[in-house]
Amino acid sequence: MLKQISHLGIAVKDIEEARGFYRSVFGLESSEPIIGGGGTIKVSMVQVGGVLIELIQPAGNEGVMAKFLEKRGEGFHHICYEVEDINAEIASLKAAGIEVLGEVKPGAEGMIVFLHPRGTHGVLVELVEKKE
Ligand code: CO
Repeated sequence: MLKQISHLGIAVKDIEEARGFYRSVFGLESSEPIIGGGGTIKVSMVQVGGVLIELIQPAGNEGVMAKFLEKRGEGFHHICYEVEDINAEIASLKAAGIEVLGEVKPGAEGMIVFLHPRGTHGVLVELVEKKE
C-alpha cells in the first residue's frame, strides 16, 4: 500500500544553480548536496510542505542520470512513493506483472527500488520503505 508521495526527482545540469533558483525564486532552502548512486550523482533535497523535491545532477559523464540528461534534458525524472513494507509491495507488483528494476537497495531515506516506466504509464517510480 502506498502511504504518501515521498519526493519528486528532477534532473538538473547544475545543482548549485538549481539550488540558487529555489532559494531566490521560491524562498526555499535545500540540503547540502551529497554524492549518491555509487558516485554517479549529486543530490539535494528541497522541502515543500510534506513533500520533498530531489534535485539530481550527474557527477561526471557516467551513469543513468548523465544518459538521461543527455537524451532528455533537464526536467521531471521520477516520483517516489513511501510504502509500509517494500518486500511485500514488490511481491504483489511482480505477481501483477509489473517490471521491477534490480533489487532492493539502501538509499538516503531507507530501502528503495525502482519500477520501469513501461509498466507504470510512462513514469519512473521509486518506492521507499523509510527507516524507523
Ligand atoms: Co528519488
